[in-house]
Amino acid sequence: MRILPVEPAHIPVLSQLAMDTFSETFAHLYPPEDLTAFLEKSYAPEKLAVEIADTAQFWRIVYEGDEAVAYLQCGPVGLPHAEADPTRMGELKRLYVRGSQQGKGLGKMLMAVALGWLDETYGQAPQWIGVWSENHKAQALYLSQGFEKVGEYQFPVGQTLDDEFILCRRL
Ligand SMILES: CC(C)(COP(=O)(O)OP(=O)(O)OC[C@H]1O[C@@H](n2cnc3c(N)ncnc32)[C@H](O)[C@@H]1OP(=O)(O)O)[C@@H](O)C(=O)NCCC(=O)NCCS
Repeated sequence: MRILPVEPAHIPVLSQLAMDTFSETFAHLYPPEDLTAFLEKSYAPEKLAVEIADTAQFWRIVYEGDEAVAYLQCGPVGLPHAEADPTRMGELKRLYVRGSQQGKGLGKMLMAVALGWLDETYGQAPQWIGVWSENHKAQALYLSQGFEKVGEYQFPVGQTLDDEFILCRRL
């Protein structure tokens, strides 16, 4: 497997990977029109191009052979919590592994990469993650790395509002 910084040439593949992995995990939760609106808003190539050009963000994409199988995104915290300060704290914003590659240690390895970047970039400041309240697999990974639940909020996917947990890791 190769873990690469995301570059403009990856954008079409990243867009497809992001849509595929979100849909694999969450499509059953939403009416099709909500899902489509969310995918187009969040993962359109033009949107990703802006985000990867933002030097405050950290992206990695993982290839196995010619296939993109996972990606991660970190950046300044954007979660609605009174202690979350984007001027000095970071967030793991996205961590997605294709279903065919899950359960083999890739998520844990990418988590280590993300935490390494957060450590280097933000020092000892608290680190943040938002996660769907019923995503027990991801929560198990995050709790195993020292994150704890500190709040809740609602995340819009089209017209649907998801219940989300806010997790924080204090160093
Ligand atoms: C969550 C995710 C990133 C974990 O990646 P992964 O490669 O499958 O996980 P790993 O094999 O590295 O396992 C890491 C930890 O995840 C948890 N985990 C993995 N599979 C699990 C399962 N079937 N049930 C419960 N917990 C599980 C465990 O804590 C595991 O650690 P352990 O092996 O020491 O017990 C991955 O499953 C994924 O992309 N899921 C879909 C997208 C998603 O939910 N992303 C997070 C959005 S916030």
